[in-house]
Amino acid sequence: MIIAVGSDHGGFNLKQEICAFLKESGYPYKDFGTNNEESVDYPDFALAVAQGVAGGEYGLGILVCGTGIGVSISANKVRGIRAALCHDTFSARMSREHNDANILALGERVVGRGLALDIVRSFLTSSFSGGRHSCRVDKMKTIEDRHLGRS
Ligand code: RB5
Repeated sequence: MIIAVGSDHGGFNLKQEICAFLKESGYPYKDFGTNNEESVDYPDFALAVAQGVAGGEYGLGILVCGTGIGVSISANKVRGIRAALCHDTFSARMSREHNDANILALGERVVGRGLALDIVRSFLTSSFSGGRHSCRVDKMKTIEDRHLGRS
């Protein structure tokens, strides 16, 4: 499973730390940028990562901006994406177990490096529990079908 990673300028430094952590830990990943601290628009990077995950080329995604809010809102506009904005390890685990989240969103200006990497670890080592949660995830897909266009 390859992990898609992306950020805007506000999340660039944490994104670099996350890529280093993934490399050290042996997780294959693809870095979609941004590649420096010059100002860019977070929807562009959220879209690239979200499309890669929704299309199945990448198993999970990690997105970072200043707060994590812009990238999570943007990614969740893509059909098939369940992006979870998590700033604690419990939420990161539950987002996988209960919500089958496929993208983790983080805010570089909200959490420090140590906690952020623990959150990433928690997200990547948890998996969907299924069972009673499956019909709830299916209901989210029904909402997509009813309310998102197909273009
Ligand atoms: C950029 O200044 C900042 O607005 C962005 O990184 C993010 O926090 C948006 O949600």
